[in-house]
Amino acid sequence: MNELTGQIAVVTGAGRGIGKAIALRFAAAGADVVCVSRTEANSTAVAEEVRGLGRRSWALAVDVSDGAQVMAAGEKILAETGRVDILVNNAGVTRDGLLMRMSEADWDTVLGTNLRGAFLFTKAFTRTLLKQRSGRIINIASVIGLIGNAGQANYAASKAGLIGFTKSVARELGSRGVTCNAIAPGFIETDMTAVLSADIRTALLKQIPLGDFGKAEDVAAAAVYLAGPGGRYVTGQVLSIDGGMVM
Ligand SMILES: NC(=O)c1ccc[n+]([C@@H]2O[C@H](COP(=O)([O-])OP(=O)(O)OC[C@H]3O[C@@H](n4cnc5c(N)ncnc54)[C@H](O)[C@@H]3O)[C@@H](O)[C@H]2O)c1
Repeated sequence: MNELTGQIAVVTGAGRGIGKAIALRFAAAGADVVCVSRTEANSTAVAEEVRGLGRRSWALAVDVSDGAQVMAAGEKILAETGRVDILVNNAGVTRDGLLMRMSEADWDTVLGTNLRGAFLFTKAFTRTLLKQRSGRIINIASVIGLIGNAGQANYAASKAGLIGFTKSVARELGSRGVTCNAIAPGFIETDMTAVLSADIRTALLKQIPLGDFGKAEDVAAAAVYLAGPGGRYVTGQVLSIDGGMVM
């Protein structure tokens, strides 16, 4: 159970949903956790919960799409912790709409958070990871990045881009003992999916062989596997956590 003892993890979008579940699961496995979120109250509350599990925790309010904010956050984190062993790029948003009506702003917001944010946060720690000669980077992509979805051209492009980014980083940093993998969740019950209509939910359920929606904890379990000793020889992979939706 303590497979992450002594590790320092940074989780973006840790204020709720999947990011929160990963932060708490990492803490339960022995890691100290830096909780990054746009909303200070959320990251602070999750950091409190991490401390309640007996681990150290720090809370930061950062917009992951803002280069200056991410650079400052990276420096602050390293000044506090001295090292980073695990980075989870989880922060993500949707701005759904059919292509014909999709605004440039909605395209830019989704690509800016989901793809540029992962690039900025990974870059902020790359020098440190290379020097340490160890580290685990986990990018939270989506099955939509693998199969596409009508009404989600921006989101699918951001997640497919994140998968390409993951494989490139895996190749670039592998010789220094740093792994980089993506998790592709299917339909997970969080605030992001709570807005979907009953009709869409029923249609989605029909596509899931296990016949149920996933929980944030299902994704967190995969993150612990990739971050822990069992993930030592795994890099450049996309692990779908989707009840069999994509196979
Ligand atoms: N819920 C699902 O079914 C599902 C499926 C596939 C992939 N995902 C991915 O999992 C990740 C987490 O999703 P979730 O369902 O927990 O969503 P959520 O909306 O509950 O949480 C998203 C988190 O990201 C943070 N965030 C958003 N924009 C940010 C920004 N610019 N800077 C910093 N933080 C920001 C939010 O504050 C929030 O804490 C996302 O990348 C999402 O695309 C979710």
